[in-house]
Amino acid sequence: MIISDDNKSKIIKQKNPELNTSINANSDFQEDSYEKNIRPMDFDNYIGQSSIKETLKITIEAAKKRGTTLDHLLLYGPPGLGKTTLAQIIAKEMNANIKITSAPSIEKPRDIIGILMQLKDGDILFIDEIHRLNKIAEEILYPAMEDYVIDLTTGKSQSVKTMRIKIPKFTLIGATTKAGSLSGPLRDRFGIIHRLEYYTNEELAQIVKRTASILDLKIEDEGALTIATCSRYTPRIANRLVKRSADWALVKADGIITKDVAKEALKSLDIDEIGLDTTDRNMLKIIINSFSGGPVGIETIAVALGEDIQTIEDVYEPFLIQKGLLARTPRGRKVTRLAYEHLGINFNNKNSQLNLF
Ligand SMILES: Nc1ncnc2c1ncn2[C@@H]1O[C@H](COP(=O)(O)OP(=O)(O)OP(=O)(O)O)[C@@H](O)[C@H]1O
Ligand SMILES: [Mg+2]
Repeated sequence: MIISDDNKSKIIKQKNPELNTSINANSDFQEDSYEKNIRPMDFDNYIGQSSIKETLKITIEAAKKRGTTLDHLLLYGPPGLGKTTLAQIIAKEMNANIKITSAPSIEKPRDIIGILMQLKDGDILFIDEIHRLNKIAEEILYPAMEDYVIDLTTGKSQSVKTMRIKIPKFTLIGATTKAGSLSGPLRDRFGIIHRLEYYTNEELAQIVKRTASILDLKIEDEGALTIATCSRYTPRIANRLVKRSADWALVKADGIITKDVAKEALKSLDIDEIGLDTTDRNMLKIIINSFSGGPVGIETIAVALGEDIQTIEDVYEPFLIQKGLLARTPRGRKVTRLAYEHLGINFNNKNSQLNLF
């Protein structure tokens, strides 16, 4: 990798934290106080994911006993399941500083070099959406992860000089929603890989109650379970629905989130009793009405729905598959009989027209 002398001076300037824009660029650092308050900061408050938690606790304790840094760690799983939160808890348990950045903000070689050169011994570097890291940044990371060095090439053509710079021992925590999009060589450099699982309704109900108590809201157990059931197995959505239900309780009821209040609040958001929102239902209806229930390719669905493929793949599709309403086949996506039943459409009369919207 070639960096001109001009760029080199920029890299050195980046050693000054005030000049670095890559670090802290992630929205997690600018999160509002609401987010900050409800984000669990230790393992006890991090509900669910019990097997990952148990393994991590042992890994952390072993690293502390040995006085070493933690192995590089990859966390993967759908959005909103707690990857960023877990990375912050790990940093706290290791008594380490955490630098948070995300792959799309690492554009130029100097961005990643600047970040690496600012690290101190034992720091944790968290790179969100790591599957979006460009090839050059990845190649700079390899020796940094393996040998804690950066290989710099300076000057132009004839006067090229290579120098190897040592950097402090650090731990990289990568997070991704798409482990499959990570290059093989990068994935192989992570010593620990954990996949976050979807949460059960009971775990989500606990999260809902915890959030409600932090926000000083009154909630009944059944109200919490109603919200949990409609949260797409995802804590971030559960927390959002707590907030909306609290608004509803305050304005339309006596301030307490009961089962009925939660149901009304969800209805007002067009979320049905199994947690499907308007887009989920529209996606199923489009496949049924325009493509005889499928199979149909994801690109076609995306165009018909006016959503981007990534959002469909990351957000809508996994939930519909989990619910048994959609199936992936080699020839495309297919709606299941259960989906017809849920939408009240006659499965035996598949081509019957339905008023879409
Ligand atoms: N295990 C948990 N217990 C309690 N709350 C949780 C848990 N996991 C996540 N949350 C809450 O859910 C929200 C989303 O979590 P987080 O930001 O860590 O998700 P993420 O996996 O990093 O999502 P993304 O892929 O979009 O970056 C946070 O507000 C956090 O408070
Ligand atoms: Mg995150």
